[in-house]
Amino acid sequence: MNNYVINALDKRSHISKEIYGHFSEHLGRCIYEGLYVGEDSPIPNVRGLRKDVVEALRDMGIPVLRWPGGCFADEYHWKDGVGKKENRKKMINTHWGGVLEDNSFGTHEFLDLCQQLGCEPYINGNVGSGTVQEMSEWVEYMTFDGVSPMADWRKANGRQEPWRVKYFAVGNENWGCGGNMRPEYYADEFRRYQTYARNYGDNRLFRVACGPNADDYTWTRVLMERAGQYMDGLSLHYYTVPGDWKQKGPATGFDKAAWYRTLKKGLYMEELLTRHGAIMDSYDPAKRVALVVDEWGAWYDVEPGTNPGFLYQQNSMRDAALAALTLNLFNHHSDRVRMANLAQTVNVLQSVILTDGAEMLLTPTYHVFRLFKPHQDGTLLGTSLETDRVGQGEDSFAQLSESASMDESGRITLTMANLSADAPAQVSASLVGFRASAAKASLLHAPFNAFNSFEDKERVRPVDFTDFSLEGDRLRFTLPACGIVAFTLEP
Ligand code: AHR
Repeated sequence: MNNYVINALDKRSHISKEIYGHFSEHLGRCIYEGLYVGEDSPIPNVRGLRKDVVEALRDMGIPVLRWPGGCFADEYHWKDGVGKKENRKKMINTHWGGVLEDNSFGTHEFLDLCQQLGCEPYINGNVGSGTVQEMSEWVEYMTFDGVSPMADWRKANGRQEPWRVKYFAVGNENWGCGGNMRPEYYADEFRRYQTYARNYGDNRLFRVACGPNADDYTWTRVLMERAGQYMDGLSLHYYTVPGDWKQKGPATGFDKAAWYRTLKKGLYMEELLTRHGAIMDSYDPAKRVALVVDEWGAWYDVEPGTNPGFLYQQNSMRDAALAALTLNLFNHHSDRVRMANLAQTVNVLQSVILTDGAEMLLTPTYHVFRLFKPHQDGTLLGTSLETDRVGQGEDSFAQLSESASMDESGRITLTMANLSADAPAQVSASLVGFRASAAKASLLHAPFNAFNSFEDKERVRPVDFTDFSLEGDRLRFTLPACGIVAFTLEP
């Protein structure tokens, strides 16, 4: 028996909806084909943006979208992507497959996409190969309301009103593809670049500095010490790779050992959040600076026969479990983690959507984001859990992953994942300071390596879950192996 307690009187941090954010890079078929097909496409679109994908992402509750990279961001020159499409410069996407980038998707198209999605844009500026002036003018182009060279150019390009852009990153992975910088050097560069990324009118930028690669704690220390006062957020990148970077392992057709190894590696996120958070606390005890996990997710070998530079991979129940445990961790660390962006929205890495021509499917990861949606902007509740261990040897861990939050109307959302590949979990949950008048639940459940294909798009999908008992302050249920459940408890 797994004993679980939700204390409704123990109200903790606000869960920023941006924790449920996504990332879209000019990489493979994420932007082109996945999100943008162009106005002349036979695929139904609004100003070139795929209707089916936009509708699905809206329904999932996408709160924020990061663009244009990734490594692409530090090679991207925004001026090449505005104005008449036929005049836009063409370039080779050297990072990702060496394909031609025609810049037909640029600033106007991205901000239109965010408007159609009803989400916040999160723009990543170029430090690695761009100038301070170029970054400064991009902010002016997007947000200045008045007469200025960039605002006038924006108007000439068809957009009168400025956009509101809040989230703005100053470089990406500047310890690697963004310029191979040392932390001391980047800290100074960040201070300089962010100075000229101005707040115009009532637009207030939330400036995100490039943070560490996984467990590079020195990077966090140096950035916080030298530039902490100039930033609103510090990023963190961590990918879950079951094998090593040369042989990552397949996205499907894996065995139970790979299930446990992958989830164990995913759970390493807990240590990263705790240790980077502790360093940040020592410089910023008031937690003013957010930890922004703007790249996370599973990274496998590409699907056989696809371009290795396109990072196209399938998505199974293992990805769903990884998403569930990671989102539960983010909820638990929401006092510091105030944004996160899964890599990457469509057709790249751990996507929520896959497309094939005019066809589209929702991955198991999509359904997890849909189930967890009610946590967005909720208040984290204190919980405790006694649970069994599952897995083998080094790859063993707690069977259940959980988090609970309360919304403004007093409704509780409980999300729980059973991380065992084959054993169900009996759960007895007691509710402190809360009597539930009613409960409903949805369950995502399938064998550990099941996935949705274009031949069987609905293999993995959520169903109503009614196999529970609710008596006053006690909720009992059996969560099947690999099951992910979301309960709504009415006050
Ligand atoms: O998401 C793919 C790549 O991973 C991004 O471009 C880069 O930032 C990271 O290394």
